Formats: sequence, structure tokens, C-alpha cells
Amino acid sequence: MHSFITLATLIVAASAARPFLNEPDTGLEEYLGTDFPVGKLPNLTDIRGIPDFDFAARNYLNASSYSFYRTGAAGEWSYRNNLEAFSRVRWRPQALNDVHSVASTLPTKILGHNFSAPFFIAPATRAGLAHEAAESNLVKGAYAGDILYITAIYATLSIEQIAAAKPANGSQVLFQQLYAAANLTAVQNNLDRAKAAGSKAIVFTIDAPATSTRHRAARYDLGNANSDTATLTWALYAQLRNMTSLPIILKGITTVDDVRKAISVGAPAIYVSNHGGRQLDGSPSPLEVCLEVYENDPTMFQKIEIYADSGVRYGTDVLKLLALGVRAVGLGRPFMYANAYGVEGVTHLIELLKTEIAADAANAGIQDVHRIQRERVNWKPLTTNGF
Ligand SMILES: Cc1cc2nc3c(=O)[nH]c(=O)nc-3n(C[C@H](O)[C@H](O)[C@H](O)COP(=O)(O)O)c2cc1C
Repeated sequence: MHSFITLATLIVAASAARPFLNEPDTGLEEYLGTDFPVGKLPNLTDIRGIPDFDFAARNYLNASSYSFYRTGAAGEWSYRNNLEAFSRVRWRPQALNDVHSVASTLPTKILGHNFSAPFFIAPATRAGLAHEAAESNLVKGAYAGDILYITAIYATLSIEQIAAAKPANGSQVLFQQLYAAANLTAVQNNLDRAKAAGSKAIVFTIDAPATSTRHRAARYDLGNANSDTATLTWALYAQLRNMTSLPIILKGITTVDDVRKAISVGAPAIYVSNHGGRQLDGSPSPLEVCLEVYENDPTMFQKIEIYADSGVRYGTDVLKLLALGVRAVGLGRPFMYANAYGVEGVTHLIELLKTEIAADAANAGIQDVHRIQRERVNWKPLTTNGF
């Protein structure tokens, strides 16, 4: 009887769903030891992968600041799904392919601007919760690492203060994220300020017409930076395009129909995102959306530049999105956490991810990160038509 119960328990345990891991064990906590003090940042040299920044920020920041960055909407099902979706599809590495020069293929054009890698810093509010220099660290880190930074309108620093952190030679390209509120005069003002500060594009967030349910942050009375309920429509988008000469990218697209619509109205680019699972719980991960777009019509990735974010933590995550035709991939929370270390944290993250992308691509038999054959990935676990 006893052995039957033991066996039954083992079977139940083995068949139980795998518990969610916010950051899969990288050995960092064991390495630091149980007496590593709360409130201290690990040495930056001990941060070996992007998930390590999450542990570092959780240990170092006060609970309210960490919770504001970390929170997802409602049950955080989308937050978790964003992270887990990437592991559901596996590689089909191509052996004996000459991949020695794959690192030289990382440079990427985003809306005609040259950057050194196919990833960027996604717009996120309140960088000042992690470091007193706030967004200026992200500007300087992005410049040093030669990647794009999309600055958020609800940042700790103003548009002008952020622009002042750029090098004087004027060579750094930033894009400006905006929300649109009912008051179009205020929106016009922000569009004009962004242009005057040298921003090269506007990223218009369309997935947050209302506030969202974020229990983890609400506990500390930290609501959304954007709490207006706005009337977001395609007509408004057309109107905004007449209010500035800057290209306006649509951020927060999660369906094939909206990709099609964006192409039909001549949007310069779109940005697939579920806001890092912070807005509508149950919204799909970028990998699921992009796969659905590909299944419907792969040429959409040639008709319009498509960027994506939400849940990207590894070089392989970036490559899986690029394999579907995504131009460049954003990271939100990891950069906010890395900012706890200041500029060095930001540049360390950039270097880690570049190294991972090049090594992972080589190991998968990929010669050029912008020309990945979709057959390199077994998409079946996520597809609806099983190609
Ligand atoms: C603290 C925080 C603040 C954010 N603020 C904004 C914002 O103001 N506007 C916006 O479009 N997206 C915002 N986002 C969403 C990010 O742009 C991005 O879509 C998301 O963080 C990507 O998911 P990831 O954090 O898993 O990388 C924010 C995300 C975080 C974590």
C-alpha cells in the first residue's frame, strides 16, 4: 500500500504542469550565497544573462519600484505566456553550414537608420525608480552600444532633458513614444517638442485606450503612468499624421487584421506588442501574433517594417522573431532593471545580447540573422495549420 501511494504521488508529480519560472535558474543566487544582503546589487561581472538583471533589481530596488517594473495585468497570464511561448518552439539546426561570419550580419536598418544590432530599448516610463540619472543612462548606453532607444512620454525626465543626454555631434537617433489623449493641443505640443528635440519618429501606443488592472503595482498605489481613457481610432491616426512630418509607427498591434489595416493606410512601420503583458491580460505573445501573420500572408513582412516586443530575454528569442520576418525586437523590463547599474548596466546588457544572438545563430546553422529560413524552427507547437 505504502509503495503504491509513493508511486501514485510520483506519477502525479511527474505529470503536473511545470511551475512558472520568472527567471529560470542561472545559478546566480547559489553563487552569491544565502547571506548575500538584500538591498545590494551583485557585481555587474556576475550578471551572465539577461534574466540575472531581474534578480539583481528585485534584490536591490525597494519593493514598490520593482513591483512597478515587474507588474503584469490581472492574473499575469500574458506576462507568463510571453516568456514561455519562445520555449514552445524548438530549433532545427542546420549542420555543417559555414556560419563563421554571422556576427557581421547583426547591423540592422530601422526606418532607414543604421544600428549595430536587431534589438532596441522599448519605451518604458519612470526610469528614475531604478537610478537617479534615469533615462539619461539609457540614452548613453544606447549610444555606446549603437542601438535604438525609444523614449517614453511618461518618463522621469522631460523630452528636452532626455535629448540633452545625447552626444553633441547629433548623430544619435532616438524615437519618441506618445499616447494620444482627448486634448489634441497637448498632443500637438508633444509632437512638436519631440521634433524640436531631434526625434526621428513617433511611436504611437494604441493598446492602452484605458487604464489596466495591475494588482502587483496597485498594492503600492502605483497605477499606470497613462490613466486617461482615450478615443483611439484610425481616423485619429490619420489626423496625427497631418500634425507632424515625423513618421508615426503604430505600437501595440496584436492581430493579422490590424497589420493588414496598417498596411492599407500606409503606416511606415508597425510594432507588434502586448505591452509586456501589462495591459490586456489574455492578449497573445508577439511570437504567436507574428506566426499568425506569417501563416496568413508572409509577404506582409516585406510590405511594412514590423518590430516586436514582450518577453524577449535571450538571443534565441530574438532569432525566432527574426525568422518570421520581424525587423527588430524590443526589450522593456530588462533595460529598466539593468539601469539600476547606470550606463554600465545598459551597455553590459547590450553586449550580452549581441554575443548571444551571434553565438545562437551560429549554433543553429544560420549564416545571416536577417535571412533566417523559417524551416530552422519547428513551429508546429504554436501553429494553427501546422506548417
Ligand atoms: C515599467 C514599464 C513601463 C512601460 N511604459 C510604457 C509606456 O509608457 N508606453 C508604452 O508604449 N509601453 C510601455 N511599456 C511597454 C514596453 O514598451 C514594452 O512593450 C514591454 O515592456 C515589452 O515587454 P518586456 O518588458 O517583457 O520586454 C512599459 C513597460 C514597462 C515594463
